[in-house]
Amino acid sequence: MTHRGKFITFEGPEGSGKTTHARNLVARLEGAGRAVLYTREPGGTRTGEAVRGILQHDEAGEPVTPEAEVFLFAACRAQLVRQAILPALERGTTVVCDRFADSTLVYQGYARGLGVERMLTINEIAVDGAVPDLTVLLDIDVETGFRRLGSRYGAESSRDRFEREARAFHERVRRGYLELAERWPARIRTVQADAPVEAVDAAIWRVVNHVFA
Ligand SMILES: Nc1ncnc2c1ncn2[C@@H]1O[C@H](COP(=O)(O)OP(=O)(O)OP(=O)(O)O)[C@@H](O)[C@H]1O
Ligand SMILES: [Mg+2]
Repeated sequence: MTHRGKFITFEGPEGSGKTTHARNLVARLEGAGRAVLYTREPGGTRTGEAVRGILQHDEAGEPVTPEAEVFLFAACRAQLVRQAILPALERGTTVVCDRFADSTLVYQGYARGLGVERMLTINEIAVDGAVPDLTVLLDIDVETGFRRLGSRYGAESSRDRFEREARAFHERVRRGYLELAERWPARIRTVQADAPVEAVDAAIWRVVNHVFA
C-alpha cells in the first residue's frame, strides 16, 4: 500500500539506542521542515498505554502467558495503526515509530519460540497494510547493550543471575533481527549501533534520505 507520508520504524535489542536515535531523527526531520509523528510501541494511544502497564509492570497482578502477551501487543498495534499511524500517513506526515511489528516476530516468534510465521499472520491483521517504508535495525552486541542499560537492571546482587538468564534470550533476539534483515533487505537496513551517537545519527540519516529520494 502506498501512502503520502513515509513510515519509518526503529528496531533492535535493548540498549541499542532506538529511543535516542529515533528522537534525534525526528528533530532532524522537523528541522528540515517535515511534519512528523513520533510514537512508540506498546503505547501511543490510551489503550496502548493501559496495556503497556499490564505488559511491562504486571499491573494485572499475575504473570502474562506468552500467548496472551502476543495478543496484547497486537491489540496495542491495531489501535495505534488505525487511530494514529494511518491517518498521519494519509495527511502526508512522516511517522517514526520506536518498535513495531518486527519486535513481535523477533521477541515472541523467534526468541520465545512461538513461531515467526504464526506471528506474521497476527501482525498482518494488526497492521492493516501499514508496512514500514524503512526499518532501521540498530545492531549491537548483547554485552554492550547490557552495559548501556546497566543501571536499569537493579542491584548488583541480583544482576548476575538475571543477566545470565537473559543473555541467551537476548542473543536470540539479536540473531532474529539479523535474520529478518536478510529476509527483507529492501525494507530493513542494519546500522551498526556501537559508534558514537553522532556517527550513528549520520548513518541513519543516509538511509533515511534514500527513502525520501
Ligand atoms: N550511539 C550511542 N553510543 C553510546 N551510548 C548510546 C548510544 N545510543 C544510545 N546510547 C545510550 O544508551 C542508553 C540506551 O539508549 P536507548 O534508551 O536509546 O536504547 P533503546 O534501544 O531505546 O533501549 P530500550 O530497548 O530499553 O528501549 C542510553 O543511556 C543512551 O544515552
Ligand atoms: Mg527505548
